[in-house]
Amino acid sequence: MATRFHLECSVSCGAGPFDADRRQHLCRCGRPLLARYDWDRIAPTWPRESLRDAVPSMWRYAPALPLADGDRPVTLGEGWTPLFPAPALGADLGLDRLLVKDEALNPTNSFKARGMSAAVTRAHALGAATLSVPSAGNAACALAAYAANAGIEARVFMPRDVKTPFIRECRVHGAEVTLVDGLITDAGRIAADEGRRHGWYDVSTLKEPYRAEGKKTMGYEIAEQLGWRWPDWIVYPTGGGTGIVGIWKACEELERLGWVKGPRPRLVTVQAEGCAPMVRAFHAGADTADPWEGAATVADGLRVPAAVGDILVLRALRESGGTAVAVSDRDMVEGMLDLGRREGIGAAPEGGATLAALRQLIRDGVVARDQEVVLLNTGGALKYLDVVEEG
Ligand SMILES: Cc1ncc(COP(=O)(O)O)c(C=O)c1O
Ligand SMILES: [Zn+2]
Repeated sequence: MATRFHLECSVSCGAGPFDADRRQHLCRCGRPLLARYDWDRIAPTWPRESLRDAVPSMWRYAPALPLADGDRPVTLGEGWTPLFPAPALGADLGLDRLLVKDEALNPTNSFKARGMSAAVTRAHALGAATLSVPSAGNAACALAAYAANAGIEARVFMPRDVKTPFIRECRVHGAEVTLVDGLITDAGRIAADEGRRHGWYDVSTLKEPYRAEGKKTMGYEIAEQLGWRWPDWIVYPTGGGTGIVGIWKACEELERLGWVKGPRPRLVTVQAEGCAPMVRAFHAGADTADPWEGAATVADGLRVPAAVGDILVLRALRESGGTAVAVSDRDMVEGMLDLGRREGIGAAPEGGATLAALRQLIRDGVVARDQEVVLLNTGGALKYLDVVEEG
C-alpha cells in the first residue's frame, strides 16, 4: 500500500529515514520519530479553499494525516471543536481577545481522541491485533473507544489511584484494564514488559509517531478558525507534551502549504507545582528535563514525572518565544470553576490550569492586555467532579 509519508528522527541523529509501511516506535537513538510529508506534491493539489466542503472533524486535513492510499480513518467525529470567545473571563482579566478551544467536546471528553484516531487508524492499517497504552486516564478512555470502533483489542494500564470514571469508561468500551501501583511511568514500564512478551502494539505518548499527528490538528483548526492566522499565545497543559509538539509541527506545515504567513504563536506549557519537570528544565536553560520526584497533583493528566518528548517540548517553547508556568492545584481548580461559572465551559483541572497560568502571565507582564490568547481546555469536568466536592 502506498504511503504519502515517511518517518524521521525528531532530533536528526542521523538514523533513518524510516519506512511508514512497517510498525515503527522510537528512533534508534531513543527519541521520538515524526511523520514527514511530501509538501511539494501535496500543496499544489490541496487548496485551502477546498476546506469549505470538508468534513467537520480533524480528518478535514486528511492529506496532512497518516492515511495511506486506500485506507479509511478510524473516526468517531473527533476534532473541529469550537473556539469559543470568552468575553466574561476576558473582561475579568482585562483582555480584549480571550478564546477557549473546547476539547471537552471530543469523543470520550478529551483531546486524546485526536491522537488515538490517528494512531489507531495507522495501527489498524498495519494489522495490529492488540493495542496497549499506559495512561493517566483520558488516553486510556480514548484508546478504548477507537480500538472498539476498529475491532481491535485494547489493554490499558493506569495508576491504581486513577479516578473511578476513567476505569468505568474504559470498561464501557470493552478495554482490559490493569491498575498499577505508582505513576504513569510505572504503568508504562509494566505495559512495555507485557507488550514485548505478547507482541502488542504500544501507543504510548510519542513512543509511536502518529498520536502527535492527530494532536497537530488542534493547531490547524485554531489557524483556520481565526481566518488563517495565529493568535499571540496558545496555552497548553503539558504532561507528555504531544500537544505542544503537534501544534509546533502544525505551524511549520501550514507555512509549507502556504496557508498561514504571519508570525507564529508563542507557546506556553503549564504544569502543576507538584509535578513540573518541563517548567524546571525550561527556566534552567536545559535541553532535557530530569524526572520529577514525588509527583502529585489533582490533574491526572499533568502527573507525568518524565517524558520521552521532553527535548521536543523544550525546543518548541524556545523556538516559539514562549514560556513555561507551574500552577498550584488550588489555582487550577479555581480556574476550572471560573471557566464553568463565567463561561459555561465544563473544564478538567488541566483546562483550569491554563486559566491560572494566564492570570500569572498577565500579572507578571508577560502577556499584554491587547494580545490574543487561546486557552486549550483539553478535557471536560465530568470525570473529575470529586475535585470540586465540598467538605
Ligand atoms: C485533560 C488532559 N490535559 C492534558 C494532558 C496532557 O497531555 P500530554 O501528555 O499530551 O501533554 C492530559 C494527559 O493525560 C489530559 O488528560
Ligand atoms: Zn534518532
